[in-house]
Amino acid sequence: MSIPVPIRSETNAREDATRAARPDARHLPGHYYTSPAVFQREKEALYMKRWLCVGREEEIANAGDYLTLRVIDEPVLVVRDEQGRIAALSNVCRHRGVEVAHGAGNAKHFSCPYHAWVYDLTGRLIGAPLMRGTNFDQAACRLPALRVGTWQRWIFVCFDANAPTLEESIAPFAGQFGFLQPQDCRLSDKLVIDLNCNWKFACENLMDIYHVGTIHAKTFGGSYKGDKERYSFILLPGGGFSFVGEAAPTTPDGKLLFDMMPWIADRGPNFAMLGFLGPNMNYAARSESQRMWVTWPLGEDRSRLIVYSLLPAGAFDRPDQKEKSQLVRRFLESIVEEDRAMLESLQNGVDSRMFVPGPFARLEEPIHHMINDYLASIAAQ
Ligand code: FES
Ligand SMILES: [Fe+2]
Repeated sequence: MSIPVPIRSETNAREDATRAARPDARHLPGHYYTSPAVFQREKEALYMKRWLCVGREEEIANAGDYLTLRVIDEPVLVVRDEQGRIAALSNVCRHRGVEVAHGAGNAKHFSCPYHAWVYDLTGRLIGAPLMRGTNFDQAACRLPALRVGTWQRWIFVCFDANAPTLEESIAPFAGQFGFLQPQDCRLSDKLVIDLNCNWKFACENLMDIYHVGTIHAKTFGGSYKGDKERYSFILLPGGGFSFVGEAAPTTPDGKLLFDMMPWIADRGPNFAMLGFLGPNMNYAARSESQRMWVTWPLGEDRSRLIVYSLLPAGAFDRPDQKEKSQLVRRFLESIVEEDRAMLESLQNGVDSRMFVPGPFARLEEPIHHMINDYLASIAAQ
């Protein structure tokens, strides 16, 4: 269902989309990052319509394993049932609306913490204390199911019954990134980082090669190789892109900590790949690891980054895998801290009455592409 929300009287997304498509395109005006009305519109046009990555199959490997999250303010429960199938359910009790499951773990069933209504692993209501004698049809009551699908062990959900299938939606991205074989990897670390900035700043920053040499000079900025004037990005439908370049492994000293992923070892230790899958999934690969950065909006000026790091399944046989993954985690955290200062300053700066958006640099082509898709989506809303 579409809810028309005015963005701002002096502008509209359709006009901004046209503007951004021109060669003299400029970055988005500040209110796209600060307005509650824009935020509401993004929720409907993007987060309630597109396929969203909510985790890895190995996070819920066994029957009864579950995880929970909120997609903006929509509570979601992802669970593996007794048959091994993955379900995505609305995590909102059918009695009064409390969230039924919390955090992540393993359960035989879910008991709502408020009045103890009980749901099975498929979301069916199987118990409701002291409700006998009312005309409530318990057998017909269940937590509504969302669409769910997997691609190479990544789990996706979709709120929109009319959206294209996951297979169709992800095909352009899969065509570019499938050879990284994430299905042959396992989750080595999951990092959660809260940022005081709009979610788009986080996504844009993760596809922004332009800033790398400046603020990441001390961490990994020096390792990006090649003629930056010639970097070529493959732009994908839906605002995505892919880019293959050369950079050192994501480790504190830029040297390999793990073996290279066997299926891409012929590309050498400095293989690097970057990409984006709209609305909120950034992908990065090096020779020995790959990771998805999912950015969840928490409000106009707050977001949560979840960083899923993957290593080839064979790497988990090494006794030092955990210790080395910790080193990588601390390194990633130090990189994000370098970004954080910029992102939080951006959030403040675009609200300035003096701010006029500047032009896109050539290295910002993926951001330009994402923004065009974004504007077209919210204009269509
Ligand atoms: S709100 Fe869940 S049992 Fe009452
Ligand atoms: Fe950065």
